[in-house]
Amino acid sequence: MRRQFISADAPLLRAMAHDMERFESSALDALIADMFDTMRHSRGVGLAAPQIGVSQRVIVFEFQGGDRAPDTAPIASTVLINPVITEREGRAEDWEGCLSLPGLRGWVPRATRIHYIGRGRNGERLRGVAEGFHARIIQHEIDHLDGVLYTDVAIRTEPYERPS
Ligand code: NI
Repeated sequence: MRRQFISADAPLLRAMAHDMERFESSALDALIADMFDTMRHSRGVGLAAPQIGVSQRVIVFEFQGGDRAPDTAPIASTVLINPVITEREGRAEDWEGCLSLPGLRGWVPRATRIHYIGRGRNGERLRGVAEGFHARIIQHEIDHLDGVLYTDVAIRTEPYERPS
């Protein structure tokens, strides 16, 4: 079920989200399914639970390849719960947008390679390494869990309408 985005000035979007402590619950399954529905409907590549008004540390992302990042291989549909970045290397700037801030984009510096840990949808421990656009998505979504929007870290922002 698709859910509504909370408004960009909602306090929850600027709050520290809570660690998820219970796994294998029907509520978590429903949240994850709804996050994918909402992200795909908006043709996004990532979504964090606070964007739909849920103050829990859950992010989802996927990328099927294409114009947004032509040099990037597809990224499998992923759920990360309580994610933490444990290492950051490099720095690169690129454009970012956010489903919570339509009509805008920003030129944002991010680490180019990250190591992360977290939990999967059943509470299993996950760890991984991500580079480039993949690493950028994860950093953007984890920032949402800390109440940070890309506009807080962008070098500059400008009006932008995504091509349809
Ligand atoms: Ni965002």
